[in-house]
Amino acid sequence: MAAVWVSFCLLVSLAALSPHRAHVSTWGSLYGSKHGAAAAPTVGICASSVVVYGYPCQEFDVTTQDGYVLSVQRIPEGRGKGSSGGSGGGIKKPPVLIQHGVLVDGVTWLLNSPDRNLPLILADNGFDVWIANTRGTRFSRRHTSMDPRDPKFWNWSWDELVAFDLPAVFDFVYGKAGQKINYVGHSLGTLFVLASLSEGKLVDQMKSAALLSPIAYLSHMNTALGVAAAKAFVGEITTLFGLAEFNPKGDPAAQFLQALCAYPGVYCYDLLQAVTGKNCCLNSSTIDLFLENEPQSTSTKNMVHLAQIVRDGKLAKYNYGRPDLNLMHYGRFNPPVYNLSNIPHDLPLFLSYGGQDALSDFRDVARLLDSLKLHDVGKLTVQYIENYAHADFIMGLNAKDIVYNQETLAAQHVVGGSQGWEESTDLNSWASGEKFKVGDQLVFKYTSGLHSVVELPNESAYKSCNTGSALDSKSSGNDVVKLTKAGTRYFACGTLGHCGQGMKMKITTVAGNTPSSPSSPSSSAAASSSSSSLRSVTSLFGIAALSVPLLLSMF
Ligand SMILES: *[C@@H]1O[C@H](CO)[C@@H](O)[C@H](O)[C@H]1NC(C)=O
Ligand SMILES: *[C@@H]1O[C@H](CO)[C@@H](O)[C@H](O)[C@H]1NC(C)=O
Ligand SMILES: *[C@@H]1O[C@H](CO)[C@@H](O)[C@H](O)[C@H]1NC(C)=O
Ligand SMILES: *[C@@H]1O[C@H](CO)[C@@H](O)[C@H](O)[C@H]1NC(C)=O
Repeated sequence: MAAVWVSFCLLVSLAALSPHRAHVSTWGSLYGSKHGAAAAPTVGICASSVVVYGYPCQEFDVTTQDGYVLSVQRIPEGRGKGSSGGSGGGIKKPPVLIQHGVLVDGVTWLLNSPDRNLPLILADNGFDVWIANTRGTRFSRRHTSMDPRDPKFWNWSWDELVAFDLPAVFDFVYGKAGQKINYVGHSLGTLFVLASLSEGKLVDQMKSAALLSPIAYLSHMNTALGVAAAKAFVGEITTLFGLAEFNPKGDPAAQFLQALCAYPGVYCYDLLQAVTGKNCCLNSSTIDLFLENEPQSTSTKNMVHLAQIVRDGKLAKYNYGRPDLNLMHYGRFNPPVYNLSNIPHDLPLFLSYGGQDALSDFRDVARLLDSLKLHDVGKLTVQYIENYAHADFIMGLNAKDIVYNQETLAAQHVVGGSQGWEESTDLNSWASGEKFKVGDQLVFKYTSGLHSVVELPNESAYKSCNTGSALDSKSSGNDVVKLTKAGTRYFACGTLGHCGQGMKMKITTVAGNTPSSPSSPSSSAAASSSSSSLRSVTSLFGIAALSVPLLLSMF
């Protein structure tokens, strides 16, 4: 996929080289004026893309164990809250760390209008928001001793992002926020975190992870261009670039893409579509902004490593290409595999993937889900969006309604508010003031031993306080109930007499939200998909099994 993003971004330079080719593209006109070298940063992301919308924002530097200095932004408050600290008040807000994919940086999350940008939406919803910028990107081209002009600066692949970048940023945010971190990753931002977790890193600092357009396996990446690019990366690329910086805006990259576009079966006309799949819901002004800001450099070694996943179908460490070299680095002939079964089974995970995504192909997602099949059932939520492709998840006009309002914004309702789950609380008037969405949680807080929480099966059991018919009973004093589907549920206290005195509550959960309709004809499928997502995923396994031989014959 990375290879593919490159190619997509490369059209920027290609447009300058061969306008007759570019202008045929539907997107071509957008590229014409946007070529040129990566501008040296003058203002940071806070100043350019956050503060301008009236949100407070702080810039931080985080140094990794191997000496890279990473730029990190924090948006501690929603719009107009004005405070600079955000931690001065009483309650600490839940932190969320947002991680971009490869060849882009943290700015990609901030290219829509402010009410549609994930970091700002999260800040407005009470989160302490942190934005990561991977090594090599515009604001993270720094090292304690090396210069980016030195090829050694670029001697890393995503193994180092897994081993150093993410852990450094997690340590830093954890240190500042003082509590476990919610993570949101897009594309390769999902790969890094899955691989890190599989090695036992981040585990103690992570509260939940939302994986948008998840990538772990890439064997089914189905664009001819992507496949050609991946082959070339493994084969020819190092002679063209050396093992140094891969700058998608540079001349060698443009030549590389030109060569690729000449491959039989590769069509470079509508490159954005060829590369990411058919994005349903992008605003053309947002694409313009995207091209002003991206793509960003990465290391050639990283690109080669990504191409190895496409080629080998395995999630393994960088392959040095020779048994003796692998032996030297790993003490074995083949690179070690990242075993995703090692991810803690009780970590809340939310996966959202699209039916039109050429990079996060549904068969590869099915394989990822298969590797998570031992995950606790209640801790894995999967959303399938029929008409979404790769870029819709970060820049889609309706991503706010369709994706971000799901798990990422899942609310915790503390039953009874500050009074808690007690006899004196007016529970029904509390409940009528709350909006319960699928994915939200109820938290019952009470004195253990004095009360309990029982769930009653139906209206009549609720009315008659028939606690003997309870479906479930909890008594810890701090019980969490997840609202997994739409409908009405009934709760009461199991202590003799309490239900009769009114210590009971009926709540109605509604489906996540009502997406504002995208212009695409399949929008209704997207809107209805979240509730049926688990079902569609199950049936995917069947499809995948059938078509594997068919696909193998194509590679
Ligand atoms: C690149 O890093 C590896 C270890 O990760 C090391 O073995 C190798 O010598 C380095 N290459 C250069 C050119 O510094
Ligand atoms: C697209 O973005 C531009 C610039 O932010 C905005 O003026 C326009 O309303 C947007 N279009 C839609 C459909 O939101
Ligand atoms: C991954 O780990 C699981 C158990 O933790 C083990 O059963 C499985 O064989 C491992 N897979 C690989 C490819 O090592
Ligand atoms: C309500 O649940 C109780 C206990 O499971 C059952 O006996 C009763 O028939 C149910 N009533 C209705 C109306 O479904």
